[in-house]
Amino acid sequence: MAQVVQMEVEASLKHVNGAMAEIFSRDFDPTAVVSEPLPPVVAEENGGLVKIIAESEMESESEREIVLGKNVHTTCLAVTEPEANDEFTGDKEAYMAGVLARYRKTLVERTKHHLGYPYNLDFDYGALGQLQHFSINNLGDPFIESNYGVHSRQFEVGVLDWFARLWEIEKDEYWGYITNCGTEGNLHGILVGREVFPDGILYASKESHYSVFKAARMYRMECVKVDTLMSGEIDCADFKVKLLAHKDKPAIINVNIGTTVKGAVDDLDLVIQTLEESGFKHDCFYIHCDGALFGLMMPFVKRAPKVSFKKPIGSVSVSGHKFVGCPMPCGVQITRMEHINALSRNVEYLASRDATIMGSRNGHAPLFLWYTLNRKGYKGFQKEVQKCLRNAHYLKDRLRGVGISAMLNELSSTVVFERPQDEEFVRKWQLACQGNIAHVVVMPSVNIDKLDDFLNELVEHRSTWYEGGKAQAPCIAADIGTENCCCSLHK
Ligand SMILES: Cc1ncc(COP(=O)(O)O)c(C=O)c1O
Repeated sequence: MAQVVQMEVEASLKHVNGAMAEIFSRDFDPTAVVSEPLPPVVAEENGGLVKIIAESEMESESEREIVLGKNVHTTCLAVTEPEANDEFTGDKEAYMAGVLARYRKTLVERTKHHLGYPYNLDFDYGALGQLQHFSINNLGDPFIESNYGVHSRQFEVGVLDWFARLWEIEKDEYWGYITNCGTEGNLHGILVGREVFPDGILYASKESHYSVFKAARMYRMECVKVDTLMSGEIDCADFKVKLLAHKDKPAIINVNIGTTVKGAVDDLDLVIQTLEESGFKHDCFYIHCDGALFGLMMPFVKRAPKVSFKKPIGSVSVSGHKFVGCPMPCGVQITRMEHINALSRNVEYLASRDATIMGSRNGHAPLFLWYTLNRKGYKGFQKEVQKCLRNAHYLKDRLRGVGISAMLNELSSTVVFERPQDEEFVRKWQLACQGNIAHVVVMPSVNIDKLDDFLNELVEHRSTWYEGGKAQAPCIAADIGTENCCCSLHK
């Protein structure tokens, strides 16, 4: 099916490029669903798997085989030069409309089967369609208007104030901006830490997001990786040992409010206590809280360590397209006003100041965030958080009920389980995998029906993978603990 579609597209392109008037083959159906061709299971190199050394393993110099996705060049839609003749241009418009209609169908289909990445795909921003015709750009400082008038700063600052209230910092004490993503928030938070302590050492648990280690490389910072507990939380005993070994230098710490793979929430209070016990005074450390994943969920979970600027933290960031849900990647970064002057520069060309990472900044993103925050409010998010946690428990219980190893951290909606054996299944459900484990991140768009469909399909496939019980499912106790493992040894 995918190949047929590919050939149709290629055929149409040939017509567009050539002088022929017929743009579509006769059976071209612009509303048909394009099922994306699944990538080959492995790239053909080395006679099979591509060998990549995972960053966390580089130190131990062991290699792990990982499966890369497909090379998009095999399916890309080439850009073709427009015809000089108007008549052909009209045909090309029709062709492009057809391609876009097919693409839309694909998106609908792929959205239906998405479970592995922490994106809330359930939103309706129809009311904002009218704003698509404007090139809205908030370049420069959100609080200082620039000479470029087509901006949305009034919405951006409204959103920032909302988050400042959530994380308990007064309006005149914070500075922040709407970023392009959680990664930019981390890059900014760690940069502020580095500006405050130019010779500081960056500490991050080894289960921190790769953007944290990217920041260390970009800023050429000394970076110390801290061990984690089985849950994925930072191991504060190891943290203490490492702090004591570097007592002469200030500490810049990345604290995870939800790790990428296991959804583990670092205990912020214990991190602060560990710093204090190790002799680090409040003016000798800077904490950046990476709340990309659960930064907006934890405030609504009673037992979660509170992320608050009433505590000695320097910055917090969150992704906007994850729990909130947004058609484009975005995020929010908040830090203390007192820190930002070191980073800020006047830019005459803008008639503004700049302390951000990027130049141009997406002015549509603040509108989307402002719109959702207004519609849902604190209460709406609280309800959604409760629903996600309930549904995550449902999935974990059902997995365990049918004998599949699974783990769910108490404060999390990330359900970790054994990696499915079949890469096609992984791709269909868009699962994120690492080593022997995979996860489903239960977001507001993931309901019980979707989880049931997924589970039923998984159970059916497993009976083939494990030959109806004759073959053994792998032991993943080393990843999720013996109490969560259902292998033949541990069940
Ligand atoms: C813990 C954590 N930090 C940072 C990021 C990066 O966020 P983004 O994808 O918005 O750049 C992620 C992404 O999943 C994450 O899980």
